[in-house]
Amino acid sequence: MTTTKTFTMIKPDAVTAGNSGAIIKIIEAHGFVVSAMKLTQLTAAQAGQFYGIHKERPFYNDLVDYMSGGPIIPMILEKENAVEDFRALIGATNPVEAAEGTIRKLFATSISANAIHGSDSHKNALIEGDFFFSNLEKMK
Ligand code: CMP
Repeated sequence: MTTTKTFTMIKPDAVTAGNSGAIIKIIEAHGFVVSAMKLTQLTAAQAGQFYGIHKERPFYNDLVDYMSGGPIIPMILEKENAVEDFRALIGATNPVEAAEGTIRKLFATSISANAIHGSDSHKNALIEGDFFFSNLEKMK
């Protein structure tokens, strides 16, 4: 199998709770290589653009407020079967439904403050990675 990429970001709830180090440790222990990472904070306009696909959803405004309300840690990760394996590692969107041992089961407190994002497809992983990182930052 060939190495593929996915995109993730540790969300404001997990960063402000001091869980970033523990989450990154779990990610690396499961064989993902961090090839780009930074600490940043989105403006409301940037969060709105990133989550544009959810614009018509009832939770969109709260999602934008939440995701622009504190620091985040976006990362590009590499591993065989990266997108699917990472979605399995983070667990269901709603932590109540997340499997034991998943990152959301361990660290998420609600469906909106759910600790971490993971791209849902290879195509979106590339789009989302490009949103946060320049070509130079993506070079190994
Ligand atoms: P994520 O999958 O990372 O990106 C979209 C986010 O929207 C999702 O995480 C949740 O945080 C949020 N979200 C999805 N569904 C709901 C919902 N029903 N209510 C509130 N927030 C939601």
